[in-house]
Amino acid sequence: MGERAVAEPMASSSPALPAGVSPTEKRQFVRRLFSTIAPRYDWFNRLASGGLARRWRIRTITEAKLEPGMRVLDVCTGTGDLVFLAAPKVGSTGHVVGLDFTWPMLARAVSKTSRDERHIAWLQGDAQQLPFRHATFDRVLIGFSTRNLSDLRQGLTDMLRIVKDEGQLLVLETGRPAHPVLRVGYWIFLRTVARFVGWALTGRAWPFTYLARSAQGFLTPAQMIALLTSCGATARYVPLSGGLASLYVVRKCPA
Ligand SMILES: C[S@@+](CC[C@H](N)C(=O)[O-])C[C@H]1O[C@@H](n2cnc3c(N)ncnc32)[C@H](O)[C@@H]1O
Repeated sequence: MGERAVAEPMASSSPALPAGVSPTEKRQFVRRLFSTIAPRYDWFNRLASGGLARRWRIRTITEAKLEPGMRVLDVCTGTGDLVFLAAPKVGSTGHVVGLDFTWPMLARAVSKTSRDERHIAWLQGDAQQLPFRHATFDRVLIGFSTRNLSDLRQGLTDMLRIVKDEGQLLVLETGRPAHPVLRVGYWIFLRTVARFVGWALTGRAWPFTYLARSAQGFLTPAQMIALLTSCGATARYVPLSGGLASLYVVRKCPA
């Protein structure tokens, strides 16, 4: 299972990760954050999204058009929800790998795996240095974590490297509703209700302050598509629930 996460010192005492922190500091911060909230992550996800997050993951798997025998990688798998949706689609002739660098998140995914799911593998590793050969996977997925990467371009480039030429990368992320009223309502919701739910579940507010701020400060769909294009891909943007979440269906451009 590779290296295990060890408690790392906080790079900064500021809980919500101020602008200007180095990539190393962000990496340490993100790892510490998810180690802290891992025991309550699934509950937070369900309660704060009112079940919408599960619907968005199901839509991601539908758009991936998975078939029996396919090889799938879920980058930043967390507690493995996308893996558990993908595994029945590829069947026992296929293979699904869930990768994450935070051991306490991965440990929960491992504990949710049944004996029948032998075609699932869990791996501790970094999304920006994926330990796989060129063109290994039919599909690469990443859910709600592009905004956590310390170098998004490097992460996307590496994900595109390991997807087959005819394969697809599917990026699911919190969104930016086009309608201004919905957008402002969403930001207020993230900073108040979602943050309160997180605090009530974990006794800590700072992880949820960061999650709200990182969602609000993330790339617009146009910026994300421009970035993916500059990485050598074409991307289709699918707004989910009025843009509360964003799904990008990404293909490599022929070399
Ligand atoms: C918000 S959770 C998303 C989990 C899951 N994909 C889901 O849909 O619920 C983000 C996950 O990304 C992981 N992560 C963040 N940066 C990472 C990196 N550079 N390499 C590997 N995992 C990373 C965190 O450890 C955390 O488990």
